Amino acid sequence: MWEKIIVPIIAFIPAFAANPLAVLFGGGTPLDFGRRFPDGRPILGRGKTWRGFLGGVLGGWAVGVLFGVLPGRAPWAYPGILHPLVLSLGSMLGDTLGSFIKRRMGMESGAKAPLLDFYGFSLTALLLYFLVFPGSFGALFHPPWGLIVILALTPLLHRGINVLGYRLGLKRVPW
Ligand code: CTP
Ligand code: MG
Repeated sequence: MWEKIIVPIIAFIPAFAANPLAVLFGGGTPLDFGRRFPDGRPILGRGKTWRGFLGGVLGGWAVGVLFGVLPGRAPWAYPGILHPLVLSLGSMLGDTLGSFIKRRMGMESGAKAPLLDFYGFSLTALLLYFLVFPGSFGALFHPPWGLIVILALTPLLHRGINVLGYRLGLKRVPW
């Protein structure tokens, strides 16, 4: 039973790690190159940069390799080296999509959008993992205890890490 909770949480670390790593590596050229959407607002805004996106994806992947590929026979070992990459990529795609939606809703970069901020990245990471590795998704999340705990942990972890990032001076706002 505990393996059905602990293993999925450890496996999901690349998706959780990608966002704070994006904050750490972020800055420089914006993903949207400063361009605007036909509605006159930024496509993504200044909070989404290439360095942040790539740092989040590659950094999350590296964390996953460290936790879940190198200890090859551990119960949480991934079946392959691309698994943590799909999770970190899904996480950052969700983060980017969340910003796109926020801009379309007229929200400034950095504005608070609890559901999108919490669940945009985790649901997209889960969805991409399901699409790319359906068999592994099934093995990991059936029965779905881990999935439930991940969804319950997401807002808490997100909030905790953002407050930490704010206190450390890495983020402009504590959300
Ligand atoms: N960041 C980045 N590139 C990314 C994601 C994040 O550079 N792809 C950095 C930016 O400095 C950003 C900070 O991490 O300001 C916090 O990320 P996030 O909360 O996702 O962005 P917001 O600034 O809140 O912008 P948005 O409203 O678009 O989510
Ligand atoms: Mg934000």
